[in-house]
Amino acid sequence: MTMLRVRDLGVRFGGLVALSGVSLDLNRGEILGLIGPNGAGKTTLFNCVSGLIQPSEGSIVFEGRSLRFAAPDERARRGIARTFQNLQLWESMTVQENLQVPMDAVGKRNTLSDALGLPLSHYAERAAAERARAILHVLELDGYGSRLAGDLPAGIQRRVEIGRALAMRPKLVLLDEPAAGLDAGETERLASLLRTVRDRFHVSMLLVDHDMSLVMKVCDYIYVLDFGKVLARGRPGDVRSDRKVIAAYLGEATPELVESTEEPPVVVTAEEPKRLPAPRANGHRPATNGNPLLEVSGLAAGYGHLEVIRDVTLTVGAGEVVACIGANGAGKTTTLRAISGVIRARSGRVAFDGNNIIGSSPERIARMGLAHIPEGRGLFPSMSVEDTLRLATDSTGAKVKLEAAYEVFPRLKQRRHQAVGTLSGGEQQMVAMARAVLAQPRLLMIDEMSQGLAPTIVRQLFQMIDVFKQQGTAVLLVEQFVESALAVADRAYVFEHGTIAHEASADELRRDRNLISGSYLGSTAGEASTIQVAANGNGNGHKPHPELMEIVSMRVPAEVKRALEERAEREGRPVGALALELLAEVKP
Ligand SMILES: Nc1ncnc2c1ncn2[C@@H]1O[C@H](COP(=O)(O)OP(=O)(O)OP(=O)(O)O)[C@@H](O)[C@H]1O
Ligand SMILES: [Mg+2]
Repeated sequence: MTMLRVRDLGVRFGGLVALSGVSLDLNRGEILGLIGPNGAGKTTLFNCVSGLIQPSEGSIVFEGRSLRFAAPDERARRGIARTFQNLQLWESMTVQENLQVPMDAVGKRNTLSDALGLPLSHYAERAAAERARAILHVLELDGYGSRLAGDLPAGIQRRVEIGRALAMRPKLVLLDEPAAGLDAGETERLASLLRTVRDRFHVSMLLVDHDMSLVMKVCDYIYVLDFGKVLARGRPGDVRSDRKVIAAYLGEATPELVESTEEPPVVVTAEEPKRLPAPRANGHRPATNGNPLLEVSGLAAGYGHLEVIRDVTLTVGAGEVVACIGANGAGKTTTLRAISGVIRARSGRVAFDGNNIIGSSPERIARMGLAHIPEGRGLFPSMSVEDTLRLATDSTGAKVKLEAAYEVFPRLKQRRHQAVGTLSGGEQQMVAMARAVLAQPRLLMIDEMSQGLAPTIVRQLFQMIDVFKQQGTAVLLVEQFVESALAVADRAYVFEHGTIAHEASADELRRDRNLISGSYLGSTAGEASTIQVAANGNGNGHKPHPELMEIVSMRVPAEVKRALEERAEREGRPVGALALELLAEVKP
């Protein structure tokens, strides 16, 4: 049965059309992918389905009933749960509590029944605890029940969020970028977990993510949004080779951005990649005394009583590009934070341009020409894009034209009067990057630049690092897209368990993959799939008759229904008619 049917959905924010004429079908048991460039309207669609915003046009029908007048909590009770692009766990509660609170809400447990100790309440409590245990087990979170959610690494928190959504006994789960911030190994594990979760808990899923290795692996069917409209739809293989999708979203394929491949895929793109403006060269001075620009030795740092990094020793020369790679939790982010003064170093030495900067405030370090993104991104939600960028340039004391940033991110120019807090996830990341472009530091430390960004933009940003390099700006890069990082870097440090396990030239690491631990990279490159551009006959806008579709879909599994829909579309006939014809054929 068509579980979720969206028809002609339209959403406007003032003059901005965020969604227009969007129709989408999700069948029971399906994992449906929703991909598209930053700001295409994916999160907005989620917000319409979960009831956070009311569309100005169109309808959403869930299990045969309209959601039009249903408040978000009613939608939750009817079986729609979601996760958020920016993690929204209750950080000061334990993992177990994070799961149990929504269960209490849905199970309508109340203080009165609790106070009276009604048997129903005992029963509900036992059932809830049991369900929580089952969820934690399936999500491979067994040992984490009593840990505070806020203390866990991002990769684990993402899974707890999925667990919390499952706690509500949903029929449909909306997942907004569950792989954001996960390393390759974690993403691979998540892919198989999602399928297990679907089968074990009988939930359908609508999945948004920019990590194509996840989307292509787990989704049964994919819709592609662009500028608020459905650009294409189809099975993963078809979507991946759709010329329109490549031009608008995937771009010229960087292997890992599309899928792990051994050989670089051959792709014809519609457009030449955009030329990036060169950062200005003035203001950059070579490091004094021929010393490295940044010299870190024996650095240790952590949070609370926990020591996260120890004995970290690294250098970055003037104009050098250095990558830090390694699994999540290996200490890369903590290292950057200790260098830029966001957290206090416990021991060791950090010298920037020959000056000891340990103990200096982050602001002072930034003024010396060492920029760090994101510093928790540090954006003020109610400030406009333009004011945010202006602030960045003012703080450097230099007068820089905002145009330089707008050339790199034309999207931000269109959005320049919008409050940063209402930007899409990727657009916010662009603001953070744009600030760095404008500030023109001598050393730029970037933590997970590609997180939340569409593949085309990620590629442009890597090109930009090349330009930085040519201009003499040094870059220290923490990145999960290892291939792309090694392609622009001169050298790399491999982090393991809070310290540096190897140091090598990028060339060497590219050649000798054994230096990078296998668990971290995930299983790469099993099948070398070459991406070809094929003419695609999808999207003729034909809509099958809803009533007939309902009859058909009630009786057949999702897989068969998709096949039917596809054939009907190819033949330009209503799916109902085709189904009836096939039924007649198989009838005795
Ligand atoms: N409250 C709002 N006011 C004004 N514009 C908004 C508001 N919310 C979203 N937008 C705009 O609507 C567009 C769609 O945003 P949305 O968050 O749905 O994008 P997305 O596809 O999820 O992108 P991303 O991949 O970057 O997360 C964006 O251009 C965004 O700036
Ligand atoms: Mg989004």
